[in-house]
Amino acid sequence: MEVDCLGPLGNGFDFEGFDNVILTGGGTGVFPINFAYETLTAAGKNVTVCEGFRNASQVILNQPSYILTTDSGDTGIKGTVIAGLDTIAIYDPSKTLICCVGPIPMMKAVSAWASEKNMKCLVSMEQRMACGVGICLCCTVKVKDEGPDGFKNVRCCKDGPVFDSREVVW
Ligand code: FES
Repeated sequence: MEVDCLGPLGNGFDFEGFDNVILTGGGTGVFPINFAYETLTAAGKNVTVCEGFRNASQVILNQPSYILTTDSGDTGIKGTVIAGLDTIAIYDPSKTLICCVGPIPMMKAVSAWASEKNMKCLVSMEQRMACGVGICLCCTVKVKDEGPDGFKNVRCCKDGPVFDSREVVW
């Protein structure tokens, strides 16, 4: 069987300048989070992973060092990823980056959590994409803008998918 694919497309997480990285995700977001964990640990970075699932039967790619949360509480910490993030000791917020991939409500909550702690947060938006190269405009994301509307639409596939969470209009 032959598979035709295009990529990688768009931008990615930029970890430059941060000593500590917290990776957090849920749903299909655990796949890129796991990949980022393996890449960063191979590069010698200090990485903490916190992942959230609905219940034990949905847990995938979990590693012993990961902080695990479930809505049901049948494994790991009961609650959302915020309950897991609250267990992490943050020694220097200015040197700590949090990256999140997951459902919009999760990324919004993680963004607010990071903002409270004065930490930079990058989110990888999971819009539906058709062309993947910036032509069809089906993947737009609203980001803050100084114009009259207070926001502008940007293309997730071309301008993202990774955005500073403070720029996103949630
Ligand atoms: S998927 Fe077509 S513009 Fe983004």
